[in-house]
Amino acid sequence: MTAYRTVAPLRSVLAVLGALICTGAPAMAAGGEAAHFERHEWSFAGVGGQYDRNQLRRGFQVYKEVCASCHALERVKFRNLVQKGGPEFDEEAVKALAAEWPNKITDGPNDEGAMFEREPKLSDKIKGPYKNEQEARSIQNGAYPPDLSLITRARSVHNEASWYIHVPMMLRDVLTGYAEGGSDYLYALLTGYKEAPQGFNLAEGMNYNAYFPGNQIAMAQPIPEGGAVEYQENAGAKSSLEQNAKDVTAFLAWAADPSLNERKQLGWTVMLYLIITTLLLYFAKKRIWSRVKH
Ligand code: HEC
Repeated sequence: MTAYRTVAPLRSVLAVLGALICTGAPAMAAGGEAAHFERHEWSFAGVGGQYDRNQLRRGFQVYKEVCASCHALERVKFRNLVQKGGPEFDEEAVKALAAEWPNKITDGPNDEGAMFEREPKLSDKIKGPYKNEQEARSIQNGAYPPDLSLITRARSVHNEASWYIHVPMMLRDVLTGYAEGGSDYLYALLTGYKEAPQGFNLAEGMNYNAYFPGNQIAMAQPIPEGGAVEYQENAGAKSSLEQNAKDVTAFLAWAADPSLNERKQLGWTVMLYLIITTLLLYFAKKRIWSRVKH
């Protein structure tokens, strides 16, 4: 009962804070026109979250069939796709995938001193279609499709709210362990293509996006309404724009933080260890001091 009494006031304080945060409905934007970023329930969010292996597999399929034609993923090696805590594909399947990857590896020099191209192996990085940034820009109308390996860590949602809403929100984020700003941004970006509003000055070759800073982006909508890929029967979800966007975001979140599963599991083990140690120390102390009158 004492525990309840101490928790009750804390609960009401949290409830008031929560109400303030929710009704405040702050406009959050990465810049440009203020846009509201929705927070999604990612399986890997919070203190105990873990990646959903089927989702990572679907997400890789979206990356491979859609994004890989413009974006590299060079901090991920083919062998990482086999490792625990990731999509955990079969090693033989990934070997075959690497050998068929359209972007070859430049290796060498050979015995004649010349560089040569070869098929990627398990130990090679997942290469994009361009040799360098200049080639990418010259083909992409001056724009540069960034490497996506760390994109969910390199982007976030920016809070434009006033300080009295901002501060409790920060507190909420700390308490709930919110670290999915990059994923929320990426999902919003992929699903945020719209008709430009009247009077908006859209430059030639650019596309209107409600969430991109400045609202015009050189990347055309990569995933169309209805979805871009066909999932297999047993993939665990049906293909649609929203589902493809969610899955590729989860996959890229894994690419940027591949040891998350292991780390969070270890965290719980450490907590359990500390709790047991605390109990042992408490009872040991009671026993030792029970012989002393006080
Ligand atoms: C036809 C080429 C093409 C395809 C396919 C493509 N992109 Fe892009 N992407 C680009 C270009 C070009 C840019 C640079 C846009 C700019 O700077 O205006 C870009 C930029 C981005 C950015 C950076 C946005 C920012 O905040 O700076 C992200 C994230 C991104 N793409 C994700 C994806 C994902 C995920 C897919 C697959 C579902 C994808 N792209 C498919 C060409 C492409």
